[in-house]
Amino acid sequence: MMPQDQLGRHLRDLRISVTDRCNFRCSYCMPAGQPHPFLPLDCLLSFDEITRITEVLTGLGVTKARLTGGEPLIRPGIEKLVAALADLNGISDLAMITNGYFLPKKAKSLKDAGLHRLTVSLDSLDNRVFRCMNGNLADSQRVLAGIAAAEQAGFSPLKINTVVQRGVNDHTIVDLARYFKDRGHIVRFIEYMDAGTLNGWRMENVVSAAEIVAKIDAVMPLEPIEANYHGEVARRYRYRDGSGEMGIIASVTQPFCGACNRLRLSADGRLYTCLFARQGLNIRELLRRNNSDDDLASIFMATWQNRTDHYSETRDKTSPHFQEKIEMHYIGG
Ligand code: GTP
Ligand code: 5AD
Ligand code: SF4
Ligand code: SF4
Repeated sequence: MMPQDQLGRHLRDLRISVTDRCNFRCSYCMPAGQPHPFLPLDCLLSFDEITRITEVLTGLGVTKARLTGGEPLIRPGIEKLVAALADLNGISDLAMITNGYFLPKKAKSLKDAGLHRLTVSLDSLDNRVFRCMNGNLADSQRVLAGIAAAEQAGFSPLKINTVVQRGVNDHTIVDLARYFKDRGHIVRFIEYMDAGTLNGWRMENVVSAAEIVAKIDAVMPLEPIEANYHGEVARRYRYRDGSGEMGIIASVTQPFCGACNRLRLSADGRLYTCLFARQGLNIRELLRRNNSDDDLASIFMATWQNRTDHYSETRDKTSPHFQEKIEMHYIGG
């Protein structure tokens, strides 16, 4: 039976964080200079455990899996997990989101392992702006080299994720849109979110979807197009000159909780029903207590059925929920 949550939503998308560590320090995610206590390595789920959980969840409706982090490519041997997930019958869409830094080395082995799709984060082509946003740890050229490696390995089109922050990179978004439009990739501009507690988020720093679209439309005219599927996070636009599409992820000004079909698994085996959740169900314990697959399925089913999350629709700074969110690099974007 395919469970529905308390708001009538079905489960479809599993986002798997394979590590909470990252080689970047993006200001909106893991700001440099702040403490980032990492999970001890012996707390991490094994690849067999992740695969087993995913397989059980396919029985409850999951068809799409996305590997995230932290930075998923720093987990040693990640290709082995990709191959195991690609082998699962129920998974028809297997994607990964990466900062691109290790793609020159990894793109081909990921393709060979059976990964279907790749999304690369890149916040600006302007190197000064980009370094300022990633903790001064990588050049935009390095990420572009990663993107080139991904193209060469056969991941095309790619999606490029760009978080927009007012006064930081908003003056560079038209250039970035044009660059990837000309190369046939799909940029998705993301409204800066109040994820976690360390990034000092303020509404004034958010550039709204409407502003982003207006800025690009003024130079390269756009028109909205239909979603690819129910519950798609990005709103899609095509360039009127027929040269491709872009997207906007407007989780702050136009929340999309109503169709949220996503479940999140953290690297240490906690299952979260919302990006902004405070607590997750500790599955690592359950797995290691010799529960059968049927036992796990009933527990996952009950977790989904009890779900009431719709944080982005309520966003309330005075609630304890606002103050105690888990960090994005831990729950995986
Ligand atoms: P596709 O499978 O290619 O359609 O990707 P996706 O739309 O699932 O997008 P992706 O995984 O690249 O996520 C893009 C960004 O959207 C994430 O990094 C988050 O910032 C944001 N996002 C994704 N899912 C959610 C969600 O459930 N809630 C909120 N608030 N933001 C989300
Ligand atoms: N707001 C919006 N997007 C964010 N991401 C990380 N932190 C935030 C935030 N505070 C995005 C990254 C990446 C994905 C994993 O999550 O840019 O594309
Ligand atoms: Fe690392 Fe991605 Fe977070 Fe940046 S947004 S610090 S690349 S996990
Ligand atoms: Fe889903 Fe929570 Fe994001 Fe809303 S805020 S779309 S419920 S993950």
